[in-house]
Amino acid sequence: METGLLHLHNLLRWVIIILLLVNIFRHFSAANKPYTAGDKKLGLFLMIAAHTTLLIGLYQVIFGRFGWVHVPEGTPIMKDKFWRFFLIEHPVGMLIAIVLITIGKGVAKKSIPDAAKHKKAAILFTIAFIFILASVPWPFREGIARPLFPGM
Ligand code: HEM
Ligand code: HEM
Repeated sequence: METGLLHLHNLLRWVIIILLLVNIFRHFSAANKPYTAGDKKLGLFLMIAAHTTLLIGLYQVIFGRFGWVHVPEGTPIMKDKFWRFFLIEHPVGMLIAIVLITIGKGVAKKSIPDAAKHKKAAILFTIAFIFILASVPWPFREGIARPLFPGM
């Protein structure tokens, strides 16, 4: 089961990245159009993908093979690049991104003009996107590299 969850966590990265790009493009290009049911639905899909990834991540960071329960006794976590990444940098960076996504999706419920909704959502999602790109263990990141796709 743990492998399955890791694979899902890996795969959802791509779902989140694609949905973020679609949402960002829509909100920037629809700046002067109404905020539609379609905009809401795309935000909802993004939200579900992000929150599912968060839930799996919370499990992994505690009980997973790179989680807190498996840190060897006496490891200086903040000095060790690997553990600092998986226990601190990745979870904190992603948590910030998911909070921004959650706020960006919540913009739809505010009583502000549609143009302002598009603008706020576009900006929040863009910042979230930057946090995600910065916090993924990409294959070119020395010492913390992980595969681009599940099980590779
Ligand atoms: C650690 C687990 C999770 C936490 C801490 C969490 C937290 C939150 C929070 C704080 C909101 C507030 C939104 C608001 O203010 O309106 C929210 C909304 C939402 N969550 Fe989660 N969530 C988690 C897991 C999940 C999962 C597993 C799913 C779906 C598979 C999910 C789907 C949603 C959806 C769809 C909404 C938005 C509802 C709406 O605005 O229409 N969440 N969640
Ligand atoms: C947008 C949200 C997130 C994305 C896109 C994301 C992406 C990824 C990716 C691509 C990996 C490598 C997977 C692999 O080795 O195949 C990974 C691993 C991991 N993630 Fe996340 N993550 C997110 C959120 C989180 C959060 C919120 C936490 C913790 C609270 C977390 C904890 C972890 C842990 C502990 C690992 C290492 C798991 C292992 O290799 O056993 N992630 N994440």
